Amino acid sequence: MQTHAGDDAPITYGTYLKLHELLELQVPRSHPVHPDELLFIVVHQSSELWFKVILHELDQLVAHMGHGDALAALNTLKRLNGLVTIVSQSLTALDTLPPQRFAEFRGYLGSSSGSQSDQFRAIEAASGLREPHFIQVLQEHGPIPALVQAALDRPSLQALFHAMLDQAGTTLEAVYRTKETTPLFLLAEELLEYEQGFAKWRFLHVQLVERIIGPLTGGTGGTLGAKYLNRTVQQRFFPELWAVRSQVYGPSKS
Ligand code: HEM
Repeated sequence: MQTHAGDDAPITYGTYLKLHELLELQVPRSHPVHPDELLFIVVHQSSELWFKVILHELDQLVAHMGHGDALAALNTLKRLNGLVTIVSQSLTALDTLPPQRFAEFRGYLGSSSGSQSDQFRAIEAASGLREPHFIQVLQEHGPIPALVQAALDRPSLQALFHAMLDQAGTTLEAVYRTKETTPLFLLAEELLEYEQGFAKWRFLHVQLVERIIGPLTGGTGGTLGAKYLNRTVQQRFFPELWAVRSQVYGPSKS
């Protein structure tokens, strides 16, 4: 077992986690330094770290679903849903940033905008967004980043779920019609949970935006700000999982 970093220094908490490097990375741009900018940076950086883990877990999920392993997929999805909750929860730290204080350092952010987050776009692509509007938003910032393109080139989670249904010789309607609690039913419900968790992030984020810069202020990414973000709350990774409810239990079916 290797217990030293190589140059004979013992591996410690700090060297293992590269804390020296990590803690050097929070560099406020305001001058004099605004007391709220550190929190603003840390919430964004930590969200990007969680996005990294989410992308990693999505890779695992895609592999499990590709192998038709519903239980392993379910396990990974449960973890993913916990991670999405953490990222949403961390947004609430910025509820304590009132508009006048953000205005004091917003100018130092230049043209930076969350809409330039490659990892966020890769999560959306891996989960299943393929609509023309999504592709258009992607192209607005230049060539599609390799991370996002790789996710777009894979089957969406919905397509993978379909393949699992085919493999089991069943249909989505049958999974929702039966009273039996099957692994495929549990997986469908957990996918819906993922969708809901993601939509909750979108909702909390747009509320935060409206609270801090107002509903009518455009974003630094050149969008219509909250108006654009409110539209994204309606996006769906799994339209069929929502539709099946009315297909099986809608008013005309009773
Ligand atoms: C003071 C707090 C925040 C404000 C005022 C804010 C503002 C905005 C605005 C106006 C947009 C629309 C795009 C644009 O034109 O810029 C946006 C998009 C985005 N923001 Fe934030 N944001 C805040 C915090 C955060 C945090 C903490 C994250 C975590 C990573 C984040 C991630 C994103 C992402 C991923 C998008 C793209 C969303 C999409 O296109 O669906 N934002 N933000």
